Amino acid sequence: MSYRTEHQESVDNAAKFWADKASKLAWFKQPTQVLTEHQGQYQWFADGELNTSYLALDYHVEQGRGEQAALFYDSPVTGSKRCYSYRELRDEVAKFAGVLKAQGVGKGDRVVIYMPMVPEAAIAMLATARLGAIHSVVFGGFAPHELAVRIDDASPKVVVSASCGIEVNRIISYKPLLDSALEKASHQPERCIILQRPQHSASMVAGRDLDWHREMQQAAPAGPVAVKGTDPLYILYTSGTTGKPKGVVRDNGGHAVALHYSMQAIYNIKPGEVFWAASDVGWVVGHSYIVYAPLLAGCTTILYEGKPVFTPDAGAFWRVCAEYGVKAIFAAPTAFRAIRKEDPHAELMKQHDLSKLETIFMAGERLDPPTYHWACEVSGKPVIDHWWQTETGWAICANLAGIELLPAKAGSATRPVPGYNVQILNDEGQQVAANQQGNIAIQLPLPPGCLSTIWGNPDRFFAGYLSQFPGYYATGDGGYLDEDGYLFVMGRTDDVINVAGHRLSTGEMEEIIASHPAVAECCVIGLPDELKGQQPVGFVLLKNGVTTDAETVQQELVALVRQEIGAVACFKRALVVPRLPKTRSGKILRKLLRQIGEGENYQIPSTIDDPASLPELEALMKKHGLA
Ligand code: COA
Ligand code: AMP
Repeated sequence: MSYRTEHQESVDNAAKFWADKASKLAWFKQPTQVLTEHQGQYQWFADGELNTSYLALDYHVEQGRGEQAALFYDSPVTGSKRCYSYRELRDEVAKFAGVLKAQGVGKGDRVVIYMPMVPEAAIAMLATARLGAIHSVVFGGFAPHELAVRIDDASPKVVVSASCGIEVNRIISYKPLLDSALEKASHQPERCIILQRPQHSASMVAGRDLDWHREMQQAAPAGPVAVKGTDPLYILYTSGTTGKPKGVVRDNGGHAVALHYSMQAIYNIKPGEVFWAASDVGWVVGHSYIVYAPLLAGCTTILYEGKPVFTPDAGAFWRVCAEYGVKAIFAAPTAFRAIRKEDPHAELMKQHDLSKLETIFMAGERLDPPTYHWACEVSGKPVIDHWWQTETGWAICANLAGIELLPAKAGSATRPVPGYNVQILNDEGQQVAANQQGNIAIQLPLPPGCLSTIWGNPDRFFAGYLSQFPGYYATGDGGYLDEDGYLFVMGRTDDVINVAGHRLSTGEMEEIIASHPAVAECCVIGLPDELKGQQPVGFVLLKNGVTTDAETVQQELVALVRQEIGAVACFKRALVVPRLPKTRSGKILRKLLRQIGEGENYQIPSTIDDPASLPELEALMKKHGLA
């Protein structure tokens, strides 16, 4: 099968293409409706019935994979390792589903999971899915305020958390963060189930908090509950342009079909082989490729509680690949930049047998050509950049290792994955010629597995994605297709930035900075960062009459953003400026600031209010290493 035939078929005959892929899964009731329209929106497999946890676990045990490793937990930060066979993982998941069920969790109820990278995080996700309930995992690096916002939006019956996480060698107490979030939230869950880790013990709130281990001892296992193809599996919050994160809703049916297909088509992984996504369960990559896809495909997945460097060194990734016989690894370019910085000649790689490793996949941010070339050179393996978003849940563009590997082009995520009809549109919604930059849009219908709505806010789904270009999903990314149909993603067209593979909203940071009593106006932009791709930088105008010195305000702002969003925001630079560049109508010229920061030649817009102030601003940015 050639790439061209597979993609053409998926676009020309989407329903037939996906019906065939769906038939490879063990539905409780095979769908007869493949692609339907409901209230102006496309749906996949609406009348099919399934259970994602059953497909990921029980099915494989029934097929004779019970003793095969399902999940390896490798934790250099605690010095521990554990292997779960499919049978053991199914039993743990069934037991924890019993724990949740005993607390009244059933179909459609929400469970928020705020946990570090421990197997219990995956167990909690799969147990929630087993009951037909909806999980919402919140990344551990988020501060209480962010957790509270998500708890209020998802209104969970139960929150599952842990006593602590470990960042290299620092213990992060999760439980006080959860307690503080619940003090801020209006919605209160009925129960919190807390995993007490040996590294740190959390204090419990009587009447509300339950101990994970104690509950597991007395739990009766719960079986998988049949849900409709369109019933939600999870909500995953992601940054938008405003302070309120968007709850991306993923259904059960399309998700299972798409991820199952992707393991073979994109990653070339067959049942029984080992696949490792070095991400975090709090991100979409972790949802799809640490937990669901490898298990749906009967593979072995790895849950790694560590970093690419310092746990203990820049050989960590290679050690894990060699130790578990990983066939394909998937990580963010920033992780490889961190490894290259510590071990530029990949000396540590040479200590490990990487003969089983066939392919290196990267995503989460643009794979810059120097990192691409370095990874190719030191590993001697194909390095595949693939582009996707929380919203899509799986790759939009990739080089399909399981179908046909096309010649790679540095800086490109190669070609659209089957199911995605990717087009470049100008601002008026017309397709542009090859090599011309524009808005990257996907012609509807989106393939299975992509978001079905925004939780509790269908209007935001239409307004944010479907209304800009009727008939298309607007990705929010800009770029171009070259003469061979290769996609080059050049960056976001909105106020979202990407820091160390993490998606962050500058709009949200601006809202927080503006809440400081000394601040009159501000803007936050992403400037280039060698390691993390981008770093957020705040430009701040103080109110008249403020007597606090600029340095103190800057420090307070850095602390404020860390307190409100969390360490993950990486907001380390705020600069008090005498004037912000603006148009005469008062709009802050963010692009101009970005151009100055990136050292680009810029044209002074004719609409600018005070061009004479620019040299002073540029000099100030230079003085502070921001230009
Ligand atoms: N819980 C609590 N704090 C966390 C956390 C978690 N789960 N994850 C990160 N943090 C903290 C870090 O300790 C750090 O805190 P600090 O400011 O006190 O040092 C801060 O958040 C920023 O973290 P990060 O951006 O990860 O930077 P880092 O310097 O710790 O590590 C890299 C740099 C490159 C090693 C790291 O960013 C990395 O591995 N990135 C890959 C990202 C990824 O997998 N993305 C998913 C998309 S595929
Ligand atoms: P997230 O939703 O956190 O996965 O972030 C998605 C965004 O990250 C996309 O909209 C892109 O801006 C960026 N992104 C992810 N993968 C890539 C890639 N391979 N190339 C370029 N940008 C990427």
